[in-house]
Amino acid sequence: MARDRSKIPFNLVEYVTQLVDRFDRRKKPMAIQIKTAAEIEKMRISGIALRKVHNAVKAVVKPGATTMDMERAAQAVVDELGCKAAFKGYHGYPAVLCTSVNHEVIHGIPSEKGVLKEGDIVSVDCGVVVDGYFSDAAVTYPVGNVSPAVAKLLKVTEASLYAAIDKAVVGGRLFDIGNAVQTMCEKEGYGVVREFVGHGIGRNMHEDPQVPNYGQAGKGPRLKAGMVLAIEPMINAGTHEVKVLEDGWTAVTTDGSMSAHFEHTVAITKDGPVILTL
Ligand code: MF3
Ligand code: CO
Repeated sequence: MARDRSKIPFNLVEYVTQLVDRFDRRKKPMAIQIKTAAEIEKMRISGIALRKVHNAVKAVVKPGATTMDMERAAQAVVDELGCKAAFKGYHGYPAVLCTSVNHEVIHGIPSEKGVLKEGDIVSVDCGVVVDGYFSDAAVTYPVGNVSPAVAKLLKVTEASLYAAIDKAVVGGRLFDIGNAVQTMCEKEGYGVVREFVGHGIGRNMHEDPQVPNYGQAGKGPRLKAGMVLAIEPMINAGTHEVKVLEDGWTAVTTDGSMSAHFEHTVAITKDGPVILTL
């Protein structure tokens, strides 16, 4: 029996867009760009500028400070260095920093109402552009003294970033990186966030490939010299599940558990991984 087409819900624009996307992807399954040594040097300069921003923000983090105080400190350094804030204006994002407090995972928006108190944690994510090249890095800070359990979450998450960076070597596989994060963090009973992932980076903030924080070792595209990746474990003390708040940005853990985020921009070279955002 022929289908009654009038009863099929059908959005032509969406359908054609999906077809074109699928076709594009088939033509170039994954275009992981290879950077020259000169480009990587430019990204290192971008990374040095970014670290200056992070250092200024770090100095502001204490009980009583607001996440908007952190934003102002970041903006001042961006202005002083004459670089461009990568996040501001990106899909309408309103700030230089993402400041995510406690159970906020990523993309928290700085606010005068965001007063930090003893025992909190705050994840600071920032990206800058220098001479057309992006860098991206994140750190989670304790505010004053935090509980031993929270201190451990930060320590393990940061350690998982470094374990992942160790896998960013020529001849390795992309999912070795996420596997290192997942293995280390799940052993502690933590939840590895699935919905957000790391990414290639260069002349754009987000390039191929996606860099998940989970996966099977020995799988995925082969890693080559000249690839540059933003590796960024987002780790929850409880469930891995997250949801985005009504502001359209702030991602939080669904169980209210604390969440940590550490990120570096890393170049894969014949001499091993090079962290560009130290
Ligand atoms: N740091 C984020 C990432 O790595 C980007 C922030 S999204 C923005 O993907 F909109 F806030 F810029
Ligand atoms: Co990133």
